[in-house]
Amino acid sequence: MPSGSGATSGHRGERDLVPSLTALHTLDPQQQPTYPDPAAVEQVVAKLRTLPPLVFAGECDELRQKMANVAAGEAFVLQGGDCAETLDGVTAANIQGKLRTLLSMAVVLTYAAQVPIVKIGRLAGQFAKPRSAGIETREGVTLPAYRGDAVNGFAFTPEARTPDPERLLGIYHASAAILNLTRAFVTGGFAHLRSVHSWNADFVKNSAAGVQYQNLANEIDRALAFMVACGIDDNVFRTVDFYSSHEALILEYEHALTRIDSRTRRPYDTSGHFVWIGERTRQLDGAHVELLRHVRNPIGVKLGPNTTPDVACELADRLDPDHDPGRITFITRMGAGRIRDALPDIVAKVAASGRQVAWICDPMHGNTFEARNGYKTRAFADVIAELNGFFDVHEELGSWPGGVHVELTGDDVTECVGGSEELVEADLVSRYETLCDPRLNRNQSLELAFLVADRLTTGRIRRPNPVQAYSPIPL
Ligand code: PEP
Ligand code: CO
Repeated sequence: MPSGSGATSGHRGERDLVPSLTALHTLDPQQQPTYPDPAAVEQVVAKLRTLPPLVFAGECDELRQKMANVAAGEAFVLQGGDCAETLDGVTAANIQGKLRTLLSMAVVLTYAAQVPIVKIGRLAGQFAKPRSAGIETREGVTLPAYRGDAVNGFAFTPEARTPDPERLLGIYHASAAILNLTRAFVTGGFAHLRSVHSWNADFVKNSAAGVQYQNLANEIDRALAFMVACGIDDNVFRTVDFYSSHEALILEYEHALTRIDSRTRRPYDTSGHFVWIGERTRQLDGAHVELLRHVRNPIGVKLGPNTTPDVACELADRLDPDHDPGRITFITRMGAGRIRDALPDIVAKVAASGRQVAWICDPMHGNTFEARNGYKTRAFADVIAELNGFFDVHEELGSWPGGVHVELTGDDVTECVGGSEELVEADLVSRYETLCDPRLNRNQSLELAFLVADRLTTGRIRRPNPVQAYSPIPL
């Protein structure tokens, strides 16, 4: 990976002095596990501090540069993966399935919309979950809520639900394994554009989105063959850039992986390339904002429907006082019914403050409901309605809709209703596998990619060559 184009001179200031974990814990951190044995936590943190970084700071700089292109309206982000990764889910098939889905979506967006796509997985660290209730009661028994495999087990027993700090070491090693295979896939030939057919060959026949995808893959084959015939070296299509991301939730883990980069002498959270602060932990003077304001990674902040324009501006000022290009991404998750009211004032005020941030739409977290049979689900139509609201708002304001953030899997699960397969609530029981929020399956993910590609190629958003230098030369 190239070394950090965005790295600065090495001048160290207040922001380069990362506060101690103890100091962070005085800030009333939200959504943290209550560990029964503080000494065991200290031992784990000490061990984590000795382990190698999971990502290289130079890669974070490279991604920040790409996010600056997104903020400038010259690229589009595709960010996706599980709501909650699990230790049992660390299998080759699972990782390959997610990657295949993300790469297919990225190809649809790149080819159909002719926009450079910044590809970011919600993976290799997405093991910790904020919860609306800290406890769960079943048949008179109350236990701590499941907070993700980073914290405790899903089984409803006192043993499983008691937070265990050793799990942080487990997810570190799991993340290393996931990243290792991901890097192998994206650089070792699997991601070659000449493989576009094979990613989805097994499900094309019985899916409308699959057929649409195969037609597009045929076109890409012809385009590639044309370029090769013209003498262009097709090795450039062999690899893709791919980045990892997760919610920076558990302070012990993120702090232990925050390291001083040897090149720049500045701190980076080396647990992932892009880390975000969730809707429930983004208090302006809270511990998560305090930790992440000190690291140099590109940072996301989730904004729910009750966010005020002032709060968004204050968060940006706190996390990015220097207006560093690509540093701040706002991931809005308003809900289909709220986005058209809630988003415009926020975007307008942030723009009026002179900032250029990346705007990403998470059309999942504002659209969750409980089906009549008790499953937590989302309707594909609501997801698309929020996305359309997002595109419409940005189109009206003249701002750039910079990307999508989705919960998805490479498997043919039945967790969200709707889509061209017309899944109904009664279907949820057949393959409902998530331990947290419902994910789009492969078919729904591809369908979403085609709809987003459509939005990127229509209306005012389709400015003349907004994202690439290419323009035909008239003679
Ligand atoms: C999530 O992304 O899984 C999540 C919990 O999101 P939010 O913070 O937006 O609720
Ligand atoms: Co979720």
